[in-house]
Amino acid sequence: MQRRNKVKGEGFKRSLMMRYLLLAILVFSFSSQIWAEDVLPIVDHMQLATAPIDRSNMKSIKRGAKFFATNCMTCHTLIYLRYDKVAQDAGITYDKMPINVKVWPNGITPPDLSLEASVRGVNWIYTYLHSFYVDSKRPTGVNNLLVHNTGMSAILAPYQGEQVLAPNPELDLFGKVQWYTILILNRQGSMTPEQFDATTADVVNFLAYAAEPYHIEQHRIGKWVLGFLVVLFVLMYLLKREYWKDVKGK
Ligand code: HEC
Repeated sequence: MQRRNKVKGEGFKRSLMMRYLLLAILVFSFSSQIWAEDVLPIVDHMQLATAPIDRSNMKSIKRGAKFFATNCMTCHTLIYLRYDKVAQDAGITYDKMPINVKVWPNGITPPDLSLEASVRGVNWIYTYLHSFYVDSKRPTGVNNLLVHNTGMSAILAPYQGEQVLAPNPELDLFGKVQWYTILILNRQGSMTPEQFDATTADVVNFLAYAAEPYHIEQHRIGKWVLGFLVVLFVLMYLLKREYWKDVKGK
């Protein structure tokens, strides 16, 4: 906009523009101050933690499935995993999922998590599960850095412990911040931070499996398919040369 004005030399319009711009900046900074009281503006600079998962680690997936069955399935369904052997072995069966529950606390229905790993990504879920903190203003008593005013309660607190907001979290040299800089572990739960990391990694690994049960199989077959196509290409090329030899020869 400004550049175009300059070319045309419309000085008046430009100063008008500048005024609007200033007004917009003022309004924006004011509104972001209101925002700051409520939400932490620093969260905008938060980076997702990398979920330490290995999709080919079946043991981890099974551990995650067990943890899900006992800790998450009271609220969350996994409807697309209805006929999955791994899930069934862990006790995740359709009849035990809360499919028919109509009334939920605070009126928030917990979402189905079948495709959560594809929708949000594994790093997002891993960070979400880590970043609950005490917030007395919430009906659940907790809030979350990634989903502000989340409806999910502190179901991981017995394991992770109680986290509170750090008084003065600061950005790093790159202008980024990690969830563990923003939150402080006030009281440890039944797990050490390392154990909690490992357990949540298992759960995330299981949710990644839930979203794409054939991921490993697909990659394995995919390599063979590509190899087959390469071989086929070479054979077809040789065949073509053979045919054209005759065509040209005539
Ligand atoms: C007491 C019920 C309850 C339990 C138990 C529970 N959740 Fe939740 N969860 C919720 C509710 C309600 C929401 C919706 C939050 C919102 O959007 O405000 C939610 C949201 C989520 C989300 C984010 C969904 C999104 O995309 O916004 C994830 C991921 C999640 N839960 C994972 C889990 C895992 C993993 C467990 C088990 C370790 C678990 N939950 C146990 C109630 C529960």
